Amino acid sequence: MNLKITYKKIESCDIVFDANIFLKKNIVNILKPIVGKNPVFVFVDKNLYKKMKLELYCKTLKNVLNAEVYILEGGEKTKSLSYFTNYIEKIFKKGVTSNSFVIAIGGGTIIDLAGYIASVIYRGIKFISVPTTLLASADAAISCKNALNLESGKNQLGTYQLPIKVFVETTYIYDFLNVRYFWDGYAEIIKHGIGHSKRLLDYLKENKSIYIQKKIIPKLSNDEKNEFKKDIIKVLKLAIRSKVLLFNKNNNELQPVYHFGHTIGHALEIATANKLFHGEAITIGMLVAIELSIIKNNLKKSVLAETRKLFKKYNLPTSIKKNILNLKCFYQVMKKDKKFSNGKNYFILMNGMYKISNKLTPITSNEYTRVLKKYINK
Ligand SMILES: NC(=O)c1ccc[n+]([C@@H]2O[C@H](COP(=O)([O-])OP(=O)(O)OC[C@H]3O[C@@H](n4cnc5c(N)ncnc54)[C@H](O)[C@@H]3O)[C@@H](O)[C@H]2O)c1
Ligand SMILES: [Zn+2]
Repeated sequence: MNLKITYKKIESCDIVFDANIFLKKNIVNILKPIVGKNPVFVFVDKNLYKKMKLELYCKTLKNVLNAEVYILEGGEKTKSLSYFTNYIEKIFKKGVTSNSFVIAIGGGTIIDLAGYIASVIYRGIKFISVPTTLLASADAAISCKNALNLESGKNQLGTYQLPIKVFVETTYIYDFLNVRYFWDGYAEIIKHGIGHSKRLLDYLKENKSIYIQKKIIPKLSNDEKNEFKKDIIKVLKLAIRSKVLLFNKNNNELQPVYHFGHTIGHALEIATANKLFHGEAITIGMLVAIELSIIKNNLKKSVLAETRKLFKKYNLPTSIKKNILNLKCFYQVMKKDKKFSNGKNYFILMNGMYKISNKLTPITSNEYTRVLKKYINK
C-alpha cells in the first residue's frame, strides 16, 4: 500500500507497507536510488540491532550507501539535548550537506531524535523513517512533528518536518518487540479511533482475534501467529489511513486529536520516571479528558464506559499505582505544559464520539485532580 500525505501542499511523504527494507537486496534496490551518492546518517535502535542481529545489515548500509551508522539505545532519555548535541557534532564532523539524508530505524524515541536532527540541519535535510514498534508505526512515524524532552517536561522542544518516506514493516519486527510495548502501541490507535475514525473504532471493538483474548503473544501457535500478523497489518492500515485522511483535511494543519489525553499523559510519564510508558500514560490521560468532557461538554457517559472497555480489551492500564507516582513532580510538570496559562491548563476535550473539540478548555488543578484521583490506586 502506498499513501501520500502532503503538508502545506509543498511537501509529500510516501508511506510504503512491507517493502522488506531489512533485506540486503532492498537496501540496494530501494534505498540506493533514493539517496544516490549523498551523505547518509542512519540511527538504529540498539535493542532491535541485538534482537534482529543487524550487524550484517548495518555493514551493508555502510558499504552500499556509504552511510554513517549510529547504534543507540531507544527510550525517553535518548530524545534529549545531550544526545542531540553529541550526534549533531558527529554528523558535522563527518561532513553533511544540504542534500544529505537522515534515516531512523527504531521506535518513536529514535524517530523523534533523528527527525529533530534532520529538521534543524540547514533548516531541514531529507528524513526517512523505518518504525519498528507498533506505536511508532501507527503514530510517531506518520507525523510531521519531531520533539526532544527537557528535564522539566516532555516534548518541550519541537520542530515540524515531514519525512520523505516511511517504510512500515509488519512481517517480522513484532517477533521481537517486548509485549508490554506492543500493547502500549494500541493507546494511540484507540485515540485515533475514538477521536475521528468510526471505521477504525468499529474494527477495534469487533476484533475477535485470538491474540487479543490470550494476551500472551510469544505463546501463540503458528496459526494464531499468522492470524496475529494479518490483523496487525489490517489495524495499522486502518490507523494510518485515518491519520492521513485527517492530515490532509483543513489545509493540512495539525489536528488537536493528536494531543488528546497528552496533557495529563506527559506529566504522568515524567512523574512516574517513565515507569508508565507513553501509551499507558496517555491511556489514563484520555480517561481523565473524557471525564472532563462529560463535565464540561455534556459528553455522553457511555463514551467513558466504551473507551475503558476498549483499553481493557487491549491490555492497557485503567489505573495507576500510587507508589510509582510522584505527585509533587506531577503538579510541577503540569505547570510547564505548553498549554498552561494564567494558572490553568488548557485541555483538548471531546464533544462527542469521533469529535474532538477545536477549542481549548481551561481546567483548574482542583478540577483535574478530582478526576485523576479516581485513577490512582493505593
Ligand atoms: N512525533 C510524533 O508525532 C509522536 C507521536 C506519538 C508518539 N511519539 C513519541 O514516541 C515515543 C514512544 O515511542 P515507542 O513506544 O516506539 O518508544 P521507544 O522508541 O522507546 O521504543 C520502545 C522500546 O522498544 C525497543 N524497540 C524498538 N523497536 C523494537 C523491536 N522491533 N523489537 C524489540 N525492541 C524494540 C526500544 O529499544 C525501546 O526500548 C514517545 O517519546 C512519544 O512522545 C511521537
Ligand atoms: Zn502520543
